[in-house]
Order: sequence, then C-alpha cells, then structure tokens
Amino acid sequence: EKLAYKEAILKAGDALRRFPLRNVRGVPLMEPIAQNWDSISSFNPDPSDILISTYPKAGTTWTQEIVDLLLHKGDAEACKRAPTVVRIPFLEIVTPPPIPSGLELLSQMKPPRVIKTHLPIQLVPEGFWKNKCKVIYIARNAKDTLVSYFYFDQMNLTQPEPGPWDGYIHKFMKGELAWGSWYDHVKGYWEEREKKNILYLFYEDMKENTRREVERIMRYLDLSIPDDVITQIIKLTSFKVMKDNPMANYTFIPKSLFDHSRSPFMRKGEVGDWVNHFSPEQVKMFDEDYERQMKNSNIPFRTTI
Ligand code: A3P
Repeated sequence: EKLAYKEAILKAGDALRRFPLRNVRGVPLMEPIAQNWDSISSFNPDPSDILISTYPKAGTTWTQEIVDLLLHKGDAEACKRAPTVVRIPFLEIVTPPPIPSGLELLSQMKPPRVIKTHLPIQLVPEGFWKNKCKVIYIARNAKDTLVSYFYFDQMNLTQPEPGPWDGYIHKFMKGELAWGSWYDHVKGYWEEREKKNILYLFYEDMKENTRREVERIMRYLDLSIPDDVITQIIKLTSFKVMKDNPMANYTFIPKSLFDHSRSPFMRKGEVGDWVNHFSPEQVKMFDEDYERQMKNSNIPFRTTI
C-alpha cells in the first residue's frame, strides 16, 4: 500500500504539472477538480465518516495524525500503515492516472473513514450535513497561513507558481489562490459551527496547549482515551517527531510532485513566523484590508500582532 502510491506518482510522469485554476461556483479550484466537480459534489459519506476541513496550511496534516492516533488508541505502528494521503483520503483531489484520486481511495475503504477537504463550507457535499457526519475545522491566523502557503506553492508542483512574495500577498487578499478566499473560508465555517455541530479549532490553541485541544477532539469523537495514551499521542504528533516520520511528513512523495528541496513540507510549525516575511508597509496594507474583510466577524483569532 505504501509503495503502490509512490509507484503511481512515478508512473504519472509528465502528466503531473502545475494545473491552472478554474472557478467552481465562484471558488478557484485546480482544473482537474473543476472538471470532476459533479462526482465530487455528489459524494455520499457514511454517517460514521469524519471530515477534517481546513483552508490550506492551517494544520491539516497535524490534525489528521492526531485523529488517526486517537482512533487507533495511540498505536504508532498502526498509524504508519500508509502515508497520510492514503490513510485519510483527500476528498476532492483529482490526480492524473494511475495516481488514485480521493474518491477512488474512498471507494476502496469501509466506513468509518476519516476524510480531508479544503472545500469552503458551501461546496462541501450535502451528504455530510444530511448524514450528520462529524466535522472538525481548523483555522490558522491569516498571515502565518499566507506565509506557509507561499512556501508550499513553491514545492507543490501541481499548484500554480506562487510568483514573487509581494504579488502573492495580493492574490491571497483577493482570494485568487487555490481554494479561494481565506476570509470567506474561516467565516463560512464559523457562522455554521453551532447549527452544523462543527468542532472549530485554532492552530494557535493547538500550539499553546496541545493536550487541551487533543482532549476536545477526543470528546467530540465520543472516544475515551487514558491520560498516558494522550501523552503518547501528543509526543507522536509533535512537530519534531512528525518531521521525521516518513508516513506523516510527505517525503515519500516523489520530487515530481512535492519538491522538498525548494521548501520542506514540515517547514517551521510555529506561530508568528510571518514577522520574518512582511515589511512594515505590507503589514499596514494587509491589516487595513483585513479589517474590511473581517468586520462584523467575531472569530477569536488571537494572533494578528
Ligand atoms: P509552516 O509552513 O508554517 O511550517 P497543512 O497540513 O494544513 O498543509 O499545514 C502545514 C503547516 O502545518 C506547516 O506550517 C507545517 O509545518 C505545520 N505543521 C505540520 N505538522 C505540524 C505539527 N505536528 N505541529 C505544528 N505544526 C505542524
């Protein structure tokens, strides 16, 4: 299982390239996703399936590892059975053959499955709400998300070229990056969180007190895990340990898809790295626009300083 995925990527060869973005109901998504939109949006999950949703770079992989370990009661070996993308399929991803798409991987798995998505709430297949699936959403402050995405777009050779930093900031503010507007994304899930029983978490809270947030996830999933196992899960999902875990750090993915020499997937894993990238002028411009885009929103982001 581990090798099959890697082999498939190597076989895809030249078909792997930086895909342009196409609008799906006003949201820019990679062209292959747009082309397969009908089958993606009609995906019908089982009520026992769990969805992990984020705007890209909010801590998806970290949360995927936490959830997998909670479901396997802290069994580290079980959680190394396959790379993240195979253990927890990426719902909407459409990859050139023979790389299995998210829907293909899901069709080969029995519920309960854990599923990853970056779709904004209005594009999440209706079946997740109808079937009352559990949905965990993670938000990360805008500037750190933007910095992380800038590096990721350099190393992920299927997404559009990021171009220069200054222009990238403007694309982010205008919602022109893959999966669209960060502002609409975080607000969309926030507004629906109570009605739809979404567990809404923050990357910064996870960094501040990982145990508290892991226990919130545990309770939300109706699991009961002993304290010492939680301690073990916290260790296994620390940035340092995950950075060295080939089943969690994306290094098994060949260079034709993820080029870690441009920027490692496990880059820094910190809060506030944006200060090393924004000039004072860029901070001013970004913050003024942020006020406009986030006004009337009471999402308790703590880190915009
Ligand atoms: P940086 O680029 O700021 O380092 P996603 O999984 O949503 O793509 O998010 C990736 C970001 O989460 C990267 O941020 C990555 O380093 C960080 N990350 C991954 N695993 C982490 C962990 N165990 N603890 C903290 N941050 C982690």
